[in-house]
Amino acid sequence: MILAVDVGYGYTKYAYQDKLSKFPSAVAHIPALTGFGETSTYTYNGSYYLVGENARLSETIPTRTENFLVKYSPLLLYHLFKKEGLKSVDTLCVSLSIAEFREKKDDLEEVCKVFTVNNEVYRQKEVVVFPQGLGIWITSGAPKDAIIVDIGFNTLDVLTIIDSKPRPEYSFSLSNMGVGNIIDAINDWVNSHFPGNSLSPHMADEILLNGGKFKIFRKQYDLSDFIEEQKRLFADDVISSVLSASKLKKVLLSIDEFIIAGGGAYYIPQEVADKHGFYIPENPEYANVKGFLIAAQSEESEG
Ligand SMILES: Nc1ncnc2c1ncn2[C@@H]1O[C@H](COP(=O)(O)OP(=O)(O)OP(=O)(O)O)[C@@H](O)[C@H]1O
Ligand SMILES: [Mg+2]
Repeated sequence: MILAVDVGYGYTKYAYQDKLSKFPSAVAHIPALTGFGETSTYTYNGSYYLVGENARLSETIPTRTENFLVKYSPLLLYHLFKKEGLKSVDTLCVSLSIAEFREKKDDLEEVCKVFTVNNEVYRQKEVVVFPQGLGIWITSGAPKDAIIVDIGFNTLDVLTIIDSKPRPEYSFSLSNMGVGNIIDAINDWVNSHFPGNSLSPHMADEILLNGGKFKIFRKQYDLSDFIEEQKRLFADDVISSVLSASKLKKVLLSIDEFIIAGGGAYYIPQEVADKHGFYIPENPEYANVKGFLIAAQSEESEG
């Protein structure tokens, strides 16, 4: 079986057979537990962790931590395997942003190949590391020339394809240009109304996904107008940053296909996309992982 996984700073998306799903890329380190009750703790390298939804109410390790993916991918993968009742797979596709690809590829491959969590050993036959963005390109029909914008939780990645090949000289990553900007605005609101308190990024994201309705300290609030305004500002910001990027100056003039995906694509209004000729694939947050699966499947049938 082939399993494709896209571990993002916000969510771990995955695809296999007809399944598409995700969970928060959240990992919390916790002290050893004593006493009674059910626990969803995982043991890894002698330490205890809560992962994904189970880490919701804990202090999570910032996903921007140095080497987060190499350190914690086994925990996220273990969580996925448990959730889905999977054992080791034949081909595991994972990914890295273009910025980190060269430097981290071998390390990521190695930690994913064989890992032990909760004293259970998981061994994959093969691990393939893809550059993020490439999956979006494949899902969108692999046009010969394309600019691909992946708007994530933390980063905005731009991958340019010319003559069906990724071109690093016209590709770049803008950190702090993700949906995190809207999340920060929500947290600023919380902080100004409840001094000394802040939400975890995933909690603030839940408010955003919920259209602005939420409870704090057992009271109901509605930030829907504020959130609509933040979304508009965000869309304007994203589009003007990409369209004014100096690396893309000439590329934008001549390239036809302009694809926007990643979960942040939900915040680009359709009329804005139409005006600029942007194409947004269906379920844009899964575009990468769907593309990795397609690539690995065609490799398998050819191989
Ligand atoms: N179905 C959806 N509807 C509305 N918004 C969504 C949806 N899915 C994701 N989003 C929004 O898109 C954001 C980014 O999600 P995505 O999964 O692309 O991030 P990521 O890949 O984890 O981040 P990064 O690419 O920076 O590592 C989420 O935080 C959420 O606000
Ligand atoms: Mg992403």
